[in-house]
Amino acid sequence: LFSGRVEFLKSAPALQFLPDPDAPEIAFAGRSNVGKSSLLNALTGRRSIARASVTPGRTQELNFFDVGGLEEGGPPVLRLVDMPGYGFAKAPPKVVENWKRLVRDFLRGRDVLRRTLVLIDSRHGPKKVDVEMMEMLDQSAVGYRLVLTKADKIKASDLAAVKAATEAEARKHPAAYPEVLVTSSELKMGIDELRAAVLADAEI
Ligand code: GTP
Ligand code: MG
Repeated sequence: LFSGRVEFLKSAPALQFLPDPDAPEIAFAGRSNVGKSSLLNALTGRRSIARASVTPGRTQELNFFDVGGLEEGGPPVLRLVDMPGYGFAKAPPKVVENWKRLVRDFLRGRDVLRRTLVLIDSRHGPKKVDVEMMEMLDQSAVGYRLVLTKADKIKASDLAAVKAATEAEARKHPAAYPEVLVTSSELKMGIDELRAAVLADAEI
């Protein structure tokens, strides 16, 4: 599937700009700079379909990417949603408030959303803002997976400890998958497993 059509569809800065709900969706959530756009690129095997930025907090809208499907403009097999990052310390209160409303409304009301991936930096494990995101997700209808990113940046022994701590956090949340995926977009580590999980979640 990922070797076929992968294209940016649109950005939605507010709910009225969402695309028609004509394909199963998988959303990528996580702190600013955690590696959402990079993981989306790695997953689709594209170098920069989702803009990976060096400036934290760059992605401010919901960005939709179409994967598979026959004709241009026709419905895709799968739609990936790059969500704006949270927990960016320097974000003005208005931006944070907008983010919360957009993300909460999207998560609650999106029928075609099949799973959310909550990305967590391998070097830090779940932080307070991640737990808050998980609590928001516990109240939405759709289950979520915790995915550790940037695993290349930490020693294997430390990684094992962070993975265990992340799994312990997952077990506190009924809507979270108990298993945690470990990835590195840089080394293409865990990407095949993530693809398999995404396809299973989207029931493709
Ligand atoms: P926002 O859209 O601002 O919320 O950020 P994001 O979560 O989309 O993060 P992005 O993919 O833009 O990556 C942020 C920074 O981390 C970039 O400098 C990436 O090159 C780097 N990065 C992302 N994934 C990895 C990884 O697996 N390993 C390493 N070493 N760096 C990574
Ligand atoms: Mg991004």
